[in-house]
Amino acid sequence: MAAALPSLRTRVTVHVRLERWPLTQRATLDPQRGAADAEAAYKPRLARQTRLHHDASPHDPTDGTSIPWLGFGSGTAHYLKDASGTLSTALALGVRHLDTAQVYGNEASLAPALAASRLPRAALHIGVERVGLFLVRSPHLYGGVDGLREVWREAEEVQREGLARSIGVSNFTVQDFEALGPTARVVPAVNQIEYHPYLFTANVETLAYMKARNSIPVSYGGLAPLTQAELKDGPVDPVLAAAAARLSTVAGKPVSKGQVLHLWLRARGMGAITTSTQEERIREYVEMETLPDLTEDELRAIDEAGAQRHHSVYGQFLTPEFLKEFVASQPQ
Ligand SMILES: NC(=O)c1ccc[n+]([C@@H]2O[C@H](COP(=O)([O-])OP(=O)(O)OC[C@H]3O[C@@H](n4cnc5c(N)ncnc54)[C@H](OP(=O)(O)O)[C@@H]3O)[C@@H](O)[C@H]2O)c1
Repeated sequence: MAAALPSLRTRVTVHVRLERWPLTQRATLDPQRGAADAEAAYKPRLARQTRLHHDASPHDPTDGTSIPWLGFGSGTAHYLKDASGTLSTALALGVRHLDTAQVYGNEASLAPALAASRLPRAALHIGVERVGLFLVRSPHLYGGVDGLREVWREAEEVQREGLARSIGVSNFTVQDFEALGPTARVVPAVNQIEYHPYLFTANVETLAYMKARNSIPVSYGGLAPLTQAELKDGPVDPVLAAAAARLSTVAGKPVSKGQVLHLWLRARGMGAITTSTQEERIREYVEMETLPDLTEDELRAIDEAGAQRHHSVYGQFLTPEFLKEFVASQPQ
């Protein structure tokens, strides 16, 4: 039997993130159950997802593995709610990268969704006792540089013991990567950050730093121009609408502004963690991979329109002060 993930006060993605809270919930899966049948049934979708990832990111992560481009989150819209039904739908529609965290209060939703999918463990890039990707969620949760370095050492141990295929970070800037530098043996394979047209200019330096180290950037909050009331009719909106209209004609089917945003993320080399409560929307996310690329002019127009505003949806929740209060309010 595999050893369990340790009680790190950090965050786990199934491609999973490590949190600062102890990992107490465990789920039991039988990876052998129906494996051969399920693998045969899901092969076409897996092939599409894998190809999508390689197209999107020519760089392997620092540890030589690869991750599916599209990830489906159990946070935000599903925070503190049972997400098993939606996660089952996402798996059935071809998603192979699930993103969860202890703090979402619904990790237990994963086990029934995974069991119902009847997918073989190897196909999922996920696990429960062993995970595809283990992320340190924030540089500000561990009481300064020494604490952060200690947590990264623990994450390295998690990988060395085979409990996580890859280890990475979230919400890191260049300064945070540098803080790890002197003692880190492993370069974070991934940095998960808020990224969309109204925030990309703030991340230029971080992405250049990561690219030089072959560390993969993955976005969350990528649909902010559509989901945030104050951004909805912003400068990016008409540009997305024009691109969606052109692509609808080319593809011969309706293309949404959300799909255009995901095409922009993919073209910029960013993986995408998104989520939804609606089957139609999940279908739309997955079908994005069948669409043609945006043109260079369209990509530039989105950049230029986005650069006219600066907006972070999650920045206020990521400050050391906010996180300190939040951690203190969590049950131990
Ligand atoms: N590492 C971190 O610190 C961190 C922080 C935040 C999030 N995350 C992860 O990222 C995941 C996704 O975050 P997110 O929710 O901010 O991602 P997002 O992709 O920006 O937004 C997804 C949400 O947008 C809504 N949506 C999609 N298209 C829309 C449209 N055209 N108009 C209006 N609403 C639309 C969906 O609602 P419907 O349900 O109606 O489809 C869904 O709830 C989270 O679940 C979590 O796993 C990580």
